[in-house]
Amino acid sequence: MDLYIDTANLDEIKAANDLGILDGVTTNPSLIAKEKIDYGKRLAQICEVVKGPVSAEVIATDFDGMMREGRERAKIAPNIVVKLPCTIDGLKACKAFSDEGVKTNLTLCFQVMQAWMVAKAGAFLVSPFIGRLDDVSEDGMDLIQKIRQVYDNYGFPTKVLAASVRHPNHMVQCALAGADVATVPFNVIQQLLKHPLTDAGLEKFIADYKKAFPG
Ligand code: G3P
Repeated sequence: MDLYIDTANLDEIKAANDLGILDGVTTNPSLIAKEKIDYGKRLAQICEVVKGPVSAEVIATDFDGMMREGRERAKIAPNIVVKLPCTIDGLKACKAFSDEGVKTNLTLCFQVMQAWMVAKAGAFLVSPFIGRLDDVSEDGMDLIQKIRQVYDNYGFPTKVLAASVRHPNHMVQCALAGADVATVPFNVIQQLLKHPLTDAGLEKFIADYKKAFPG
């Protein structure tokens, strides 16, 4: 499973990239709004740091606007992936971009048929939002499992990118379900390597060693 960081914060992206196992970045309008910086400028900075796929979302909701903004975003760097919503206009733009050879990430996916349609339109990534489904008493992981099965049944190459990941157990479930990618906030990435027994065990190893070999 590939690991992307879900943020537009450059310090977090640099810190995650320093781990040496980061595969890409996802951004969205809410994340860029938190940074209060021009979206294009920040994308260029991100692409300097991370060479894997960097998802850049359009703000427009109509087909022509999506095409215009998506083409501008795609010019920023060769690793930009144009992020489009799972709507009728988003589907059409996905097909048009894929015909032009531009990679897309179809976001705000909440049901299996959205994932099936965008795969038919040539999406590079589909982003089911698992945490937001859990928030409304649905089962986000069930959606990941079903999309995985549909894509495998028909050999669709579209990658399943689990988004709206909130905690390490989501990551465990994503990996077991065969998600291709998980995009994760920085605080969750930090939690992935944490275990109290690791900390306690390390503390005891060092204490035992120092007792046996003082100074
Ligand atoms: O990748 C999608 C993500 O940014 C949404 O996460 O936690 O706002 O549902 P969340």
